Amino acid sequence: MPLIRDVLAGKHEGQPVQLHGWVYRHRTSGGIVFCTLRDSSGVIQCTVKKGVVPDADFEQAKEANNEASVIITGTPAKDPRAPGGWEVKSSAFQLVGKSPDFPIQENQSTELLLDKRHLWLRSRKLTNMMRVKAVMLRGFRAWFDENGFWETTPSVITTNACEGGSTLFTFDYFGQKAFLSQSAQMYLEALIFSLDKVWCLTPSFRAEKSRTTKHLTEFGHLEAEEAWVDYQGNMDIQEQLVAHVAQKVARECEAELVELGREPADLRKVTTPFPRITYDEALERLRKKGFDMKHGDDFGQPHERALMEGAEKPMFVTLWPEEIKAFYMALDGSGKYVRCADLLAPEGYGEIIGGSERSQDVESMKRRLMREPDTDLAAYEWYFDLRKYGSVPHSGFGLGTERVLAWLTKAEHIRDATPFPRSINRAYP
Ligand code: 4AD
Ligand code: MG
Repeated sequence: MPLIRDVLAGKHEGQPVQLHGWVYRHRTSGGIVFCTLRDSSGVIQCTVKKGVVPDADFEQAKEANNEASVIITGTPAKDPRAPGGWEVKSSAFQLVGKSPDFPIQENQSTELLLDKRHLWLRSRKLTNMMRVKAVMLRGFRAWFDENGFWETTPSVITTNACEGGSTLFTFDYFGQKAFLSQSAQMYLEALIFSLDKVWCLTPSFRAEKSRTTKHLTEFGHLEAEEAWVDYQGNMDIQEQLVAHVAQKVARECEAELVELGREPADLRKVTTPFPRITYDEALERLRKKGFDMKHGDDFGQPHERALMEGAEKPMFVTLWPEEIKAFYMALDGSGKYVRCADLLAPEGYGEIIGGSERSQDVESMKRRLMREPDTDLAAYEWYFDLRKYGSVPHSGFGLGTERVLAWLTKAEHIRDATPFPRSINRAYP
């Protein structure tokens, strides 16, 4: 089936083509129907003239409202007045699926567009987002394949909290309390003992009560775990992966990026190595910028934005105070910091990766777990077994695919990085 993109590239000049697609814009003027057609690859202007096409076809063309599905046969001709520089002069027109009163018009409210998300997915913006996302995911997979990582498929039904109780979705699993997974990390840790280097892409769920432009309650979580790697080596892996994908998207999605408002040149600057600073250094920088911060304060959106002011590539913030990070992170020599890193994206897109070297000290992990009320240590027995039988130094990380896509495409809100966004007040459609 010929694609509009190929017609716009001049591959069918002067030859009849049959295009399948949806009506993007529609106007009848006397004996001519001007119909802009869209398919997955682009948009092109078509004209349908009374007397040139059979009368029945002309009637169908008049009836083909916005978003009707149609098949247009015609000859592409160069036309500098047409958007994209080409016009298809129709010789036949078939209305396949009518579209009376398509509910989305221009300048609709955000709420309406979210209610009609199943239809709004047809917009140029979301089409471009989904195309870039597919290329980005292909890039992640390719990088892991080329670098000796095994793809694995952990369960998203779990009885362990990986990232603390406050954001857990709890449900009844045949009479037993279970959770939707916040992270596949602990299962990936079990898999390194047979596969050394593993990764997975699973949905993670967080009952995020805050409404921000960076949080979803369900997100695509790309996670990796590596045996025999410390937290520094873990960062080497992350920066190579992220740079690889930024370069690939810049190369392969130029048109989409430009339409979305991102200069591909911005992404071409995302090369290794990424800067690495410690939490203490970050704190110092923030204080110099006028933030009143105590040691042990976590960073919020204003802090992340300030730290990344003027940055062209992501930056790691390493060695965080132990008390504000998860129980499984390895303590450094002082016992006050953990051997972890958050990777911050430029332009205020915030934390795109959280990673760490994993603790091998069961007693310290238990102690830190028990700081949270209602912790059921028995649920972690299997996890502690991993430290009992042939434990190895290991590290891993989790990357939020929608956060990365939002940054790559310069999106205003993370919800546009996923087709059916889930947030505190929305699970429909
Ligand atoms: O930093 P987090 O919580 O780390 C973990 O879950 C680790 N267990 C991962 C691991 O080491 N295997 O989450 C990892 C990343 C964040 O950096 C962020 O990009 C993304 O997941 N993320 C979210 N993305 C969208 N909406 C949310 N509510 C998110 N919460 C985390
Ligand atoms: Mg984190």
